[in-house]
This record gives sequence, structure tokens and C-alpha cells, in this order.
Amino acid sequence: MAFIIDGKKIAAEIKDELKQKVTKLTEDGVAITLAVIQVGNDPASSVYVGNKKKACEYVGINSLSYELAESTTQEELLSLVEALNADAKINGILVQLPLPSQIDEDLVIKTISPTKDVDGFHPQSVGALSIGQKGFISCTPGGVIQLLKRSGIPMEGKECVIIGRSNIVGKPMALLMLRENATVTVCHSRTKNLMEVAKRADILIVAIGKPLFVTKDFVKEGAVVIDVGIHRDAENKLCGDVDYQDVLEHVSAITPVPGGVGPMTIAMLMNNCVEAVTKSK
Ligand code: GUN
Repeated sequence: MAFIIDGKKIAAEIKDELKQKVTKLTEDGVAITLAVIQVGNDPASSVYVGNKKKACEYVGINSLSYELAESTTQEELLSLVEALNADAKINGILVQLPLPSQIDEDLVIKTISPTKDVDGFHPQSVGALSIGQKGFISCTPGGVIQLLKRSGIPMEGKECVIIGRSNIVGKPMALLMLRENATVTVCHSRTKNLMEVAKRADILIVAIGKPLFVTKDFVKEGAVVIDVGIHRDAENKLCGDVDYQDVLEHVSAITPVPGGVGPMTIAMLMNNCVEAVTKSK
């Protein structure tokens, strides 16, 4: 029987631990404030932003909302980010992605102060991670590490195969697994013999962005499978990058969709907000 990794439960544990920390900080007169910027009103982004603000409220972090029009110019957004960088009362800045096409996302990310980069997307944060220095860790891959650790799944010396090489998940995921002393292979759309490579994995992490892409033919008997994808299937039900029903009998542990990696991203964002006031970056 496969062990189902309960991301909802683990995320709730993390948020409860953070809530206790924030209560102590508040007693010591330390407040935490996250600025959340959304440009336009993409419905998916509005749901994510709403969930982030709800989590802030639960943990005891102040959230300040900036809801900007779809037509906002790059200069206007950069001026807001610069003003928030300079405001000592703001501890974290989150600009919800994607941004409208008139705005250069990379430039916006680069403008956020690395000391307030709670998403962990700034080149300085990514660079620090790659050479083992202090910096914010991107929330989704950071959440995957917590899922594995808190489920008692060892990483040291294990064959870890990551399918997907995005800047937000695949690449930082590889660096984090290396830091845990796993042997890491990163695959992508041009990898030859993807199935055979994936089948080497003791821990298979899938972040390729294609619904139900990974079937049992990609999975070694007894592997741990982590599914980072989230999509709607033909019946409008949520599904991941992994064909869960197909692989279930073959794995030792697996994350479901929904309720696996998803809830961890927000828990790790809350963790980064707390670290913004408790650890120097
Ligand atoms: N859009 C989708 N995921 C994320 C995320 O983790 N952070 C931000 N800022 N935007 C996103």
C-alpha cells in the first residue's frame, strides 16, 4: 500500500508552528508585514493571492494589498516596488506572476530588494542557493523538501530525478536535493529516453506542466513520487502531472493533487515572511 503524503496536514503543522513564533514576536513588539501586489485580475491569480492573504491572517502576519489595473505601466510598478523596498515597515514583497505583457517580469523581480524577496525569485536569492549561502528559498521546492523530511523519507544518497527545469521549480529543486546529498538528474522536454531515466529514480519529482504525463512506465517499483503539477482534466476535476491512479500500486509514497505540494507553497511563503524578520539574508 502506498503512503499518501498529506500536504494539507503538513502545511497546517508548519502554519501552526509559525503562528506560535509570530505570537512570541508580537509579544516582543515585532510585527511582520507582507506587501502583496497583483496587476490585473486574472481569476487564478486572484485565488492564489486570496489564499496567501488568508494564510497571513491565520499566522498573524499583516498583509497589505496593492491591486493595480491591467494597464499599469512598468514604471508605475517599479516605483511601487522601490517605495516598498525603502519602507522599513515592509518585511516582504510579493508580486504575483504572471504580469501583463507590457511589464518585464525579470526586471520587476530584480528590483525587489533581496532582503524582502520572500518568493525567492531574485537572482541573488537563486545564486546564494546555488553556492550554499544565506538567502530566501523558492516556496514550492522548499515545500517539497519539507514534505519529504516531515514524512521521514531519507534523501541522502538517493537517486533523485526531476522532470522539468523551470526557474521557479525544477532548477531550485535540483539545488535543494543536492544540498540534501541526493544524486540529482534533471530531465526536460528534450531529454532522450525520458522513461528510462525517470525509472532510475528513488525519488521522482515531476514539474513538467503536462496533465497526467507520468504513467507507471516512468516509475520504478517502490519509488517516491512528488507531483508539482496542477491542472483541470476533461471532467474539470483537478489533476497533476502524474497519472495518480495508474502509478499508485507501484509507488511506496506519493503526493495527491489536490492536497499534496499545493498547500506547501503558501506555508513556505509564510515561513519566508517569518525568516525576513528573524534571520539576516
Ligand atoms: N504565480 C504562480 N506561482 C507563484 C508564486 O509562487 N509566486 C508568485 N509571486 N507568483 C506566482
